[in-house]
Amino acid sequence: MNSYHDKTKHSYYSVRENANYLDWSTQPSTYKIYPDSFKRTKLESEVPEHSFIYRIGGISAKKSYPGSEYFLRTNPSAGALFPNELYFQVRGVDAFADGIYHFDVLHGSVALLHALDDDGVEVNLGLKQRINGYIFLLSAVYFRSSWKYRDRAFRYCLLDGGHLLGQIEASSFLKDFACRHHYDFDKEALNAMFGFQEKEFFIASSIVGIPSPKPLPKALDIALPYVEATGSFAANEVIVSAYHDSLKIVSKKACTRPAKLTFRKDVFEECMMTRRSIRQMHKEGIKKEAFTFIMDVVHQAVMSDVDEEVDIYVIVNRVIDMPLGIYKNGQFIQYGDFARKAGYLCLEQYHLGENAAFTVFLAGHSDNYQAMYMKAGIVGERLYLASHYLQIGCSGIGAYYDDEVVDFLGLDEETMILYGICVGN
Ligand SMILES: Cc1cc2nc3c(=O)[nH]c(=O)nc-3n(C[C@H](O)[C@H](O)[C@H](O)COP(=O)(O)O)c2cc1C
Repeated sequence: MNSYHDKTKHSYYSVRENANYLDWSTQPSTYKIYPDSFKRTKLESEVPEHSFIYRIGGISAKKSYPGSEYFLRTNPSAGALFPNELYFQVRGVDAFADGIYHFDVLHGSVALLHALDDDGVEVNLGLKQRINGYIFLLSAVYFRSSWKYRDRAFRYCLLDGGHLLGQIEASSFLKDFACRHHYDFDKEALNAMFGFQEKEFFIASSIVGIPSPKPLPKALDIALPYVEATGSFAANEVIVSAYHDSLKIVSKKACTRPAKLTFRKDVFEECMMTRRSIRQMHKEGIKKEAFTFIMDVVHQAVMSDVDEEVDIYVIVNRVIDMPLGIYKNGQFIQYGDFARKAGYLCLEQYHLGENAAFTVFLAGHSDNYQAMYMKAGIVGERLYLASHYLQIGCSGIGAYYDDEVVDFLGLDEETMILYGICVGN
C-alpha cells in the first residue's frame, strides 16, 4: 500500500476529529496568466483547431451570487478548485505557429511560451519519433486544492488531471484522432525548465498526432520564468514528498488498443460543452440499455505507456430489469439492496450515493500511483460524458470512507479505493 494513500484515508472518526476550517483570506486563484510579453492567440469558436483546445478545459458556465461570480469549465473538478494547468506543443497545424503554448482558461486564449526552432519536447518525453500534431503536458498547482483538502489534495490533483486527460480523449474523438497518454518521462527536468519552483509539477502528457518521417528534433532546452498561479501559497510537505516518491515508474506495461467510441459527433460536442455535476438525485431508475451503453464506454481500453489495472465496482441501486447488488468489472458478484450503504460510504452524501441509479467505486493495487490514479480520473470522465450524453446525471465523489469501502466490497486491506462516482437522476 502506498504510504501517502494510507495517510490520507477518510474514516467516520477522522472527518469528525479533524474538522476542516477554511481560511478564506488565503483562497487561491484558479487561473494562471502569463505576462503580456508572451504573444497570445484568442481561441475562436469558428476555427476547428481552436475549438479542439477550448473543449478540453474552457469556461462553459457562469455562476452569479450577489457580489460575486465564478466560472465553471468543461471539465469537473473536486470543489471547483481546478488545480491543473494545460500546456501543449503543436507542430504542423495551420491554426497555430509551431510552438509550446499555455492554455489561459480565464481569457479563452493561448500564450506562446516558446517558438519551436528544430527543437521539441519529443526527446524529453523519450519518444522515438517527431510528432506532427499536439503533445499535451498537464501539471498540478497543488495549493489550489490543498488550501481546502489539505494532505488528501494530491489525490484530487491526480483525479482532476485524469478528468482532463479524459477530456483530451473526448475532444480528439471529435476530430477522428486517438490520443495516447504518456507518464514515463523526466518530469523534474521539465518542471525546472518551466520555472515551477516546487509549487507546480508535471503529472502527465498526452499525444494527439502522427509520427513524422523527418528526423527527431533536438531536445527542448528552455528556461521559462516563474509565473505566479495562486495569489497565495503555503507549502505542503506531505504532497511534495508524495509527488517525488511516486515519480519513478515501476515495471510498466503499455496499452496500444484505442478506445472504440460510438457517440454521435454533433450530440457529443454539445454534451462536452454542457456537462455539469448533478447536485441532488431523486431515486429515478434508468433503463438497462442506458446502463449497458455507459458501461461499454467505461470499459474501453485507455491507451498509455503505463497502463494500470483499475477495477470497476458497481453497486446497482435501481436499473430496470437488472438484479440489485454488486458487480465487479461487469460480472455480478453479490445480490442485495445496498443503496443506503452506498450513500453512507460516500461520506454520508445520501442525496447522491443512495439516490443514484448506480454508484461506482474504483480500486487498484499498483505501485505506479500517479498513472493508476489518473486512469481512475479518466474512467470518471467517461462516466460523466457517457451519462450526460443520455441526459443522465453524474457526480464524482472524492470523499468516501476508504477502509469501510474495502470491507464492504470484501477486498484485501492492501487494495486502495481511488474514487467514487454516482450516476442517476
Ligand atoms: C475528483 C472529484 C471529486 C468530487 N467530489 C465530489 C463530492 O464528494 N461531492 C460532490 O457533491 N461533488 C463532488 N465533485 C463534483 C464537483 O464539486 C464539481 O465538479 C465542481 O463543483 C464543478 O462543477 P461542474 O462539475 O458542474 O462543472 C467532485 C468532482 C471531482 C472531479
